Amino acid sequence: MLKLFSGTANPGLTKQISESLNIPIAKSEVVRFENSEIRVRIEEDVKHSDCLVIQPTANPSDTHLMELFFFCDALRRQEAKKVIAVIPYFGYARQDIQHRPGECVSANVIIRFLESIGLYKVYVVNLHDEATEGVFSIPFKNINAFPILATEIKKYIGDVSVEKVAVVSPDHGGVERARKFSDVLFDNADHTIAVVEKKRDMQHIHQSVALDLYGDVKRKTAILVDDVITSGGTLMHAAQLCLDHGATRVITAVVHHDFGPKAPNELQASPIEKIFTTNTVLLKEEQKFEKLVEVSVAPLIAEELKHLV
Ligand code: R5P
Repeated sequence: MLKLFSGTANPGLTKQISESLNIPIAKSEVVRFENSEIRVRIEEDVKHSDCLVIQPTANPSDTHLMELFFFCDALRRQEAKKVIAVIPYFGYARQDIQHRPGECVSANVIIRFLESIGLYKVYVVNLHDEATEGVFSIPFKNINAFPILATEIKKYIGDVSVEKVAVVSPDHGGVERARKFSDVLFDNADHTIAVVEKKRDMQHIHQSVALDLYGDVKRKTAILVDDVITSGGTLMHAAQLCLDHGATRVITAVVHHDFGPKAPNELQASPIEKIFTTNTVLLKEEQKFEKLVEVSVAPLIAEELKHLV
């Protein structure tokens, strides 16, 4: 029997998934002490049951990660048969290599924690770099949300012919990602994608510049494709470059919004027309803005999990 638990990071998403799977959310308690420590308690009999814990590890990433570890520990102590984590947004995934000598490789550390705490399997949605999948030595599934974003964008812009639309990666690292999106958008018709040459300032956080754009966006709707928005800088600089190169308008498809404090206002004021994203991360009231369109990944995740029920 499958039991579904929700961490506190995005209870609304867990509720939607539980409704899609037609199973209730199992009882648990998460207590936060005044010194910021957390305590997790399982309040149901889980002995010999498979258990799912849904918890995106978005801001505050460390708190949400610890909570996930504690859920896993508590479930194992109660003799759950298998503990499976659904981490719709996998925080720290961008720290997957030493970008500069002397840096930690945080994604690797998180994966080792997840494995050693006794998880049976991990599901994520659009991991930053597919190569990170290979670091996991337990079963792992990377769910692709781009088809649902492509479907929504198709409805929004109507005509998505390759003559009228250009899919653009805002950096070199995102070329494969943009291709995944564009193959769905253009129904596998022959096409090329455009790429922005982005340069990060490694000495300062959240600083990057868009240097040049390769590919044809002239008189087209440019669709910028990315995995995550934090400061919004990557998208805003790339959007301006697309317009400078003759794009008629810019729309974005970004799976996760793990917003920095200024991003919502700055994105609303930017030349980007619409930002299509998903609900992998909880959208706080103060982060809502007119240009942002959230598409739910609950049906997609439920579809992946339904064989466990
Ligand atoms: C970079 O490799 C990522 O795919 C995103 O483009 C980047 O992290 C977005 O961050 P920001 O919104 O702060 O520019």
